[in-house]
Amino acid sequence: MGTVDGGMIAWDVYREIHKAMRFALFGVTTMAGHTDAADDAAVARLVGEWLDVKMVLEGHHAHEDDFCDHLVAAHASHLRDDLEAAHRLSDAHLERLDAAANELATAPASERWPLLRRFHLDLADFTAMYLGHLRYEEDHVMPALNAAMSDDELEGVTNQIRGSVPPPEMCVFIRYMVPSMNFSERLNMLGGMYQGAPPEIFEMFRAAAEACLSPADYRQVAAAAGFA
Ligand SMILES: [Fe+2]
Repeated sequence: MGTVDGGMIAWDVYREIHKAMRFALFGVTTMAGHTDAADDAAVARLVGEWLDVKMVLEGHHAHEDDFCDHLVAAHASHLRDDLEAAHRLSDAHLERLDAAANELATAPASERWPLLRRFHLDLADFTAMYLGHLRYEEDHVMPALNAAMSDDELEGVTNQIRGSVPPPEMCVFIRYMVPSMNFSERLNMLGGMYQGAPPEIFEMFRAAAEACLSPADYRQVAAAAGFA
């Protein structure tokens, strides 16, 4: 069992990264809604944000393929076809969204409005579809893995996944993970990085966390983890 907010719950490989996926998708969808099609810099910021969101979504899918798929095959094989179909559907949506972002990035300002409208609505539709997928993994896949594996084994999977992410990419993950976590999750993740990463790598993670939290939230976690 893991400790979260003072309570004991089974280890959930998905909990923290799925919070980040939701935060990232709500954020970029909202950003698309308030972007002015005539504003070159705002459109460039939106496309840049999309590229970061796409990177974490694709990175997350690769982590599921590399570190979770064999566990699903071993312990929840009855869910595997549904899961694979959902992943293929997500990949197809991501490809279309990326093509739409690319069109938006290269179109003259006078032709952007309908492209931006479509990108905004397609992002919202993708988010709606993807929320169901996240919930399916949380409600069906995770309990099957919890029934078959110990918390220590599952914590090992989480640590393997995080350890596989190169530091510059981890800084992008931090931008979405850290603000979407509660305090105890932030303390566990950043405190673990402080204890485990070489100082120059931890400095990258610390700076990424400081940049995405309010000053008060940053001071609170930095003081509790001992790197204030
Ligand atoms: Fe998934």
